[in-house]
Amino acid sequence: MSTLNPPTFAPDYVHYTDPAFCREFFADMRGRSAFQERCPEGLLRLRYDPVEFDFRSPVLARLRDAGLFEDVRNGESMLEPSNGDGLLENLHEHVAEAHQRMDESQQSAAARALYELPAGCYELHARFHEEVVAPALGLGPLHHQNVPTFRVFFPDAPGYPGRTSFHNDIMIGHNPREVNVFVPLVECRGTRSLLMASLADSLDLLGDYAADLARFGRDTQLDEDTIARCEAICRPLEVGVGDLVVFDSRCLHAGPHNTTPLTRVTFDSRVLPARNIAGQQNRYIGRGRRRARFEPGQYFSAATVG
Ligand SMILES: [Fe+2]
Repeated sequence: MSTLNPPTFAPDYVHYTDPAFCREFFADMRGRSAFQERCPEGLLRLRYDPVEFDFRSPVLARLRDAGLFEDVRNGESMLEPSNGDGLLENLHEHVAEAHQRMDESQQSAAARALYELPAGCYELHARFHEEVVAPALGLGPLHHQNVPTFRVFFPDAPGYPGRTSFHNDIMIGHNPREVNVFVPLVECRGTRSLLMASLADSLDLLGDYAADLARFGRDTQLDEDTIARCEAICRPLEVGVGDLVVFDSRCLHAGPHNTTPLTRVTFDSRVLPARNIAGQQNRYIGRGRRRARFEPGQYFSAATVG
């Protein structure tokens, strides 16, 4: 292993030791997931109606209400969000540089402002899962993430921590029986998108780590061979408004430093099909500050949709 700079992006990746927990965990890691049965690639591209499910307007409204908009060219507030055409991808022209900086969790201040949204946006998100995701997924009723995670990556924003953080969400404590949903709110290309590996390539690489996900996480920051292998199997999702991508939670992915001239605005959300957790013993807890409990009635909706 070649050691470069010390990692500046070092989440508290999981390292399970309890034998009973590990038995079920490794069976899930190595087995065929319900989503994989449905979609062997581990990746499903779908379309939805972005006018009916308009997430861009509440995002713009929230950023405006949070006081993040300023015309950085003229020094005066100027923006009245409508449907946001052309505005989200050009956010960097209207948000002060201080709000564009990435923090240690790879979020900008603009993204942190989106931790709270008008109630209507949560209802829209729930209906999105009920009417778009659940029917297309075909895995029966599902619990959905209560609060979607919005991400805003400004062009060449300062502060991106460490190297590109290739990971899967299981590494940060998520339930391997979850399914991820990625929704672009702008045209996503190159580093203005999510880098994504197929399920087969992901499992192949992780297999070399014997599921030592903490060691894998360290190597994504320090080991040039591992970084090169991740870069070789992860490709940017080329998607736009009206697209969504559903993927197996074991797929490697990364939100890279955005070197394009436009802003990335996306949200991600997860679902937990009820049939996937029937009989499951393990309980999963996030490794972040909030120690989220990845269970129905906590991180996920108490009721199912679909
Ligand atoms: Fe992730």
